[in-house]
Amino acid sequence: MDRLGKQEYLAIREGAAVLEVDHYGEKVLRLVDGSILKLFRRRRRLLSSAALFPYSRRFVSNAAALARLGIPVPRVLRLMRIPAIERDAVHYQPLAGQTLRDAMRAGLPPARIAALKAAFTAFIVRLHDQGVYFRSLHLGNVILTPDGELGLIDFADLRIHPWGLGRYLRARNMRRMQGMADECDWVDIDAIVNARPPRTEQA
Ligand SMILES: Nc1ncnc2c1ncn2[C@@H]1O[C@H](COP(=O)(O)OP(=O)(O)O)[C@@H](O)[C@H]1O
Ligand SMILES: [Mg+2]
Repeated sequence: MDRLGKQEYLAIREGAAVLEVDHYGEKVLRLVDGSILKLFRRRRRLLSSAALFPYSRRFVSNAAALARLGIPVPRVLRLMRIPAIERDAVHYQPLAGQTLRDAMRAGLPPARIAALKAAFTAFIVRLHDQGVYFRSLHLGNVILTPDGELGLIDFADLRIHPWGLGRYLRARNMRRMQGMADECDWVDIDAIVNARPPRTEQA
C-alpha cells in the first residue's frame, strides 16, 4: 500500500470525472487517462474486521481470486492510502465493456435481452458453483465485455467459499436482486436455487 500526500492526490485527481458519490463524498473517479480510482472510507474502530482487513485490500485480494477462477475483473494497478482525505483507494484499469444495467437501459432488441438474461443466470450458477457469494449482486456491478463475456466490478465485500454454495446461500444471495423492481426478472430464480455444485464422484 502506497501512502499518498495531499498534493500527489490532487495531481492524480486533476481533471477526473466523478462517476459515483454518496453522502460521504466521492466514491468512484475516472481519471484523465481513463483509469479508475475507487475510494474507500477508512473504518478506524479498533479491532473491527474492516480495520484489520480494509475493504480496499479485500477488493485487491478478491480481484486476484476471481481472476484465478477465470472471471473477468478490472486490472488492479495500485493500492493507496490517502490520509489527507481519510480514504484508501484502489487504482485500476476498467474492465472493457459496459454494465448490464447500462446495456439494458440503452435499449436492446428483445431477443438480445432474452439471450443476456439466460447468460446472466448461467453466470450466477457458475459463480455459486465456484463458491462465490457476491453480496452486491445486481446489474450495475456486472460488466458485459466486448467478447460477450460477463465480468464483475465492485466486489470488495464478496466472499469466496472453498466449496460450491449450498441451496440456502444461493437463495439468500438472490434476495437483493429479487427486491429490485426492474431487475428481478433478469434471473431464473428456480434454476439458480435448484442448481447443485458439480459432483466430482458418483454417489
Ligand atoms: N471496471 C469497470 N469497468 C467499467 N465501468 C466501471 C468499472 N468500474 C466502475 N465502473 C463504472 O463506475 C460505476 C461505479 O462503480 P462501482 O465500483 O460499482 O461503484 P459503487 O460502489 O458506487 O457501486 C459503475 O456503475 C460503472 O459505470
Ligand atoms: Mg456498484
